[in-house]
Amino acid sequence: MKKRLHFVITAGPTREFIDPVRFLSNPSTGKMGFAVACAAARSGHDVTLVAGPVALKTPRGVKRVDVVSAREMFAAVMEAVTPGCVFVATAAVADWRPAECAGKKLKKTEMSDVIKLVRNPDILKSVGGCVKIGFAAETNDVLKEASRKCREKSLAMIVANDVTEKGAGFGSDTNRVVFVYPDGRKEPLKKMSKLAVAGRIVRECENICS
Ligand code: C5P
Repeated sequence: MKKRLHFVITAGPTREFIDPVRFLSNPSTGKMGFAVACAAARSGHDVTLVAGPVALKTPRGVKRVDVVSAREMFAAVMEAVTPGCVFVATAAVADWRPAECAGKKLKKTEMSDVIKLVRNPDILKSVGGCVKIGFAAETNDVLKEASRKCREKSLAMIVANDVTEKGAGFGSDTNRVVFVYPDGRKEPLKKMSKLAVAGRIVRECENICS
């Protein structure tokens, strides 16, 4: 019989506010993470989905926690993970946030040309005691960068994709990815729907945990 797993999945972008009406972010739509959540729930697993600001419906059978900033996502993930769970980090977490967020909307005359930034925590690197799956959305040196991140973040697997390719990456309904493993093994998948990629990821997690 198949083992029932607990999946914790991050999805979407984060927003890092400069003042109440301005923020730094990225074009992630959350489609890949929501597809993984949907595939894991359909396979009978328990799923907690920690979602940044996205316009997507919660897949059936999924517990969803909404967050806005990287620090909120970090706190929600630390609360959600359980020993031995599978943590799938699809979110495009902002690496930096403004050092300060103004309490009120800044007038143009009050704004500086320079915004001082500070580093956000690396959620994937910080999680321990779980099987960790990462994503590497790259524009160049895709497999080299993915392998480095796989090692540095102690991952069971990283899903690499070239976001400059048509029909792969941000906003698209399809993706063409390569599964990269810590021992250097690489498994390229053909271009397929994000839901099909998600199904392959869930099956791989089941194999890793069996
Ligand atoms: O941004 P980077 O390319 O390092 O992202 C690789 C992986 O790490 C992704 O799975 C992403 O979700 C995760 N990550 C994270 N927290 C960050 C940055 C990235 O969990 N602050």
